[in-house]
Amino acid sequence: MQSLQDILEQYEKEIRSFAPENAADLEAYRIKFLGTKGIVKQVFGEMKNVPPAEKRDAGQLLNAFKEMAELQYESFKHLADAQGSKGPAIDISLPGDALPLGTRHPLRVIENKIVSIFEKLGFSVATGPEIEDDWHNFNSLNMPADHPARDMQDTFYVSQNPDWVLRTHTSSVQARILETTPLPVRVICPGRVYRNETISARAHCFFHQCEGLYVAKDVSFADLKQTLYYFVTEMFGADTKLRFRPSYFPFTEPSAEMDISCTVCGGSGCNLCKHTGWVEILGCGMVHPNMLRNFNIDPEEYTGFAFGMGVERITQLKFQVNDLRLYSQNDVRFLRQFEAL
Ligand code: DAH
Repeated sequence: MQSLQDILEQYEKEIRSFAPENAADLEAYRIKFLGTKGIVKQVFGEMKNVPPAEKRDAGQLLNAFKEMAELQYESFKHLADAQGSKGPAIDISLPGDALPLGTRHPLRVIENKIVSIFEKLGFSVATGPEIEDDWHNFNSLNMPADHPARDMQDTFYVSQNPDWVLRTHTSSVQARILETTPLPVRVICPGRVYRNETISARAHCFFHQCEGLYVAKDVSFADLKQTLYYFVTEMFGADTKLRFRPSYFPFTEPSAEMDISCTVCGGSGCNLCKHTGWVEILGCGMVHPNMLRNFNIDPEEYTGFAFGMGVERITQLKFQVNDLRLYSQNDVRFLRQFEAL
């Protein structure tokens, strides 16, 4: 019994220190220990030399040894399978997989460009809330209670409070700036706006605008024109023509809309400009004296200009996007196409 124990201990040591390096090593192990003429068989053969009184213990010892030898084989095999025949499965020295880099949203690309152009002229960025009250979105902008834009058909009201709307334009930020900022002031205000429109290729219930406001002493319409001329040149190139058409906005007097020569056809006429050669990109004007008075600013002392442009329209001209819905569908095939300007 003692000598059997010694033999098994010896073999166990050998098994436990065994480290197969390849399939051949493993097979050699199998043949040596578990084969038909292997060590396990041999030691079981020793049973006949064990005295009957010790057969029970010897049997237990041999079974435990056999189990250990088999288990060891299984775990070696498992390891070898996981590693395949070409060595270890994981090469920790390999560089990691590169994750695809995201791209900027086209509207953000254009918004950043607009902002950076006006920053060069000394404008700073201002923002305001998207849930706005009646005063900042309508009333203070000289839009009285019966103004058609306030209709439920056009504006989203917040059901909890009849005084709250989802802002319909970024002109509300003008109001907030005039309310809080000492003059002179020169700001550009990008942001999202909402209107109760049926969603189609040409209209959406939310879109983006960029508002500009400059109020100081002696600001004139010529300053407005020169500022916008600089913007158009920077954004669309020096060849682009622009024209102002008289228009009406409650918060400016006089008011104008500005068109640029179509960037797609160069003015010769195409679908985008509806064959007119011109595309409207913004509304503008001199800040209405009533609006200045609403914020305790004396219109005899201060004057200012304001403008508001649609970011989607500029993006459409710049990148020739033909369907407004693309901007919010989050299709990466669309989104990946735009590079920073
Ligand atoms: N708020 C106008 C709109 O949403 C755009 C606009 C027109 C803004 C004239 C202005 C402006 O600041 O002076 O259509």
